[in-house]
Amino acid sequence: MKLFSSVNDVKDVPALVAEALRLKNDPFAFEHLGKNKTLSLVFLNPSLRTRMSTQKAGANLGMNVIVLNIDKEGWALELRDGVVMNGTTVEHIREAAGVMGEYSDIIGVRSFPGLTDRDEDYSETIFNKFVEFCKVPVVSLESATRHPLQSLADLVTIEEMKTVSRPKVVLTWAPHIKPLPQAVPNSFAEWMCRADVDFTIAHPAGYELCTDFTNGATITNNQDEAIKDADFIYVKNWSAYEPYGAITVGNEDWMLTNEKLKIAPNAMVMHCLPVRRDLELSSEVLDGPQSLVIHEAGNRVWAAQAVLKQMLEKL
Ligand code: CP
Repeated sequence: MKLFSSVNDVKDVPALVAEALRLKNDPFAFEHLGKNKTLSLVFLNPSLRTRMSTQKAGANLGMNVIVLNIDKEGWALELRDGVVMNGTTVEHIREAAGVMGEYSDIIGVRSFPGLTDRDEDYSETIFNKFVEFCKVPVVSLESATRHPLQSLADLVTIEEMKTVSRPKVVLTWAPHIKPLPQAVPNSFAEWMCRADVDFTIAHPAGYELCTDFTNGATITNNQDEAIKDADFIYVKNWSAYEPYGAITVGNEDWMLTNEKLKIAPNAMVMHCLPVRRDLELSSEVLDGPQSLVIHEAGNRVWAAQAVLKQMLEKL
């Protein structure tokens, strides 16, 4: 594997999930693979889980890991071509990514969307420029429209915890006070549509995701109907795809509570984190026996390690 930016970059999804679970059982079995290899993790935006889990995954494989929070520690990057750099930007992405490639065998990049220009965000301009100019294999650490390492960890968690062969998985929209990207729900949807699960998306009218990611899913505006008898409920806020980046008030009752969970008594509750307590998801659910959120975040290590291992094997 030379690029990991979406489920479409994975030849065999069940095999990658199985690989992650094997690595969880034996984390240091492939320590030799990364010897004398460098993994650079470049963040244009904040992170806790992605940064720490991918750093640990690289270390488990014997790699040297460099983390650069370029938004805080690097030169201000110019992303546009054809501009005279007489403003605040100091270094062009062409040179910055090219130089990073000189120091790295694999690069991970996190770049969030601006949420103002849909065409620009959905063309993945920043992520694709890193891929073009660094000339080494690239892992997405969350781009404008997808978060594939999160989705792989989510699928690993579902595979590990399921009690029926084809579980009912529900992605439900949740309230928030800020417009958030569609990257996590887009990505979760496209991975679930490739997995052997019964997949439903529930959201208030106006929060339809781009259909490129949801083909094969059942989609409803009725949250209760969707979560009834679910095996896994994946909670996440996102802003509107149309009008792009918009949020509306009045859907506060979409927050998952213990009362709502009565119709899904066996459901395990997932969230990618970070989560705003008692706004997006109730404390009673987060702290309750049906919450999988910490376990799910733990599986980010094995998802990242499985992807890095496949990349190292092709270097
Ligand atoms: N879920 C996730 O990607 O967390 P971070 O933003 O903290 O990396």
